[in-house]
Amino acid sequence: MKIIVTESYEEMSKVAAGIFAEEIIDDSRIVLGLATGSTPIGTYKELVRKHLEEGLDFSQVTTFNLDEYVGIDAGDPNSYRFFMNENLFDHVNIDKGNTHVPDGMTDNPHEYGKEYDEMIEKAGGIRIQLLGIGSNGHIAFNEPDEELPVGTGLVSLTRQTIEDNARFFQSVDHVPTQAISMGMGSIMKAERIVILASGEGKAEIIGKLVEGGKVTTRIPASFLLLHPDVTLVCDKEAYSLVGR
Ligand code: PGA
Repeated sequence: MKIIVTESYEEMSKVAAGIFAEEIIDDSRIVLGLATGSTPIGTYKELVRKHLEEGLDFSQVTTFNLDEYVGIDAGDPNSYRFFMNENLFDHVNIDKGNTHVPDGMTDNPHEYGKEYDEMIEKAGGIRIQLLGIGSNGHIAFNEPDEELPVGTGLVSLTRQTIEDNARFFQSVDHVPTQAISMGMGSIMKAERIVILASGEGKAEIIGKLVEGGKVTTRIPASFLLLHPDVTLVCDKEAYSLVGR
């Protein structure tokens, strides 16, 4: 795993956006894997700036997002589709028809998950995947457990994740308890992965990830240690417990 430690959240965002911009310039028909959460907001802001000021062209880009809450409609301000429109898609020249966020309203998550993975494959596979990391080590909504799903499908959120995400909802009781999430195998198939972490709240998990040297389903992100092309971009607060 390549590691880039930055001075600030802003610098982390610029480094990550720079990596994605280079990939888009390199291949205008690229397939991107995208993430939601607080962490990537600055990266999307910088990509929007690059579009507006430097002409970064999204017209032929295809995207697949990692996950969506079950029972939350695409039009709901808490949906990840809404988040992606607000933070990126509405501000760049992407064809929305080429953007994919799992459907949280599907009545057959198992079939739907299989179709989602097939769609990614048909598009040629993900060239570069953006990831955040949960304070419990989850990636997408693959939560620490004895077993981890390989393909995309229905998953249950842990108490920790529900509490972490409560800040976006009226109360903790309003946070959905299930999601449609890309599986570990779906994520690991991406040719290149960029994982972001910012702030002290992520220091403990980043310490475990960087120093653990072991793969465990108790830290889903540890599987990234098996991937040949992963870059961790994190600010110094998130990196502060490495080597302690
Ligand atoms: P965050 O979420 O960016 O809001 O901290 C990260 C994640 O849960 O993957």
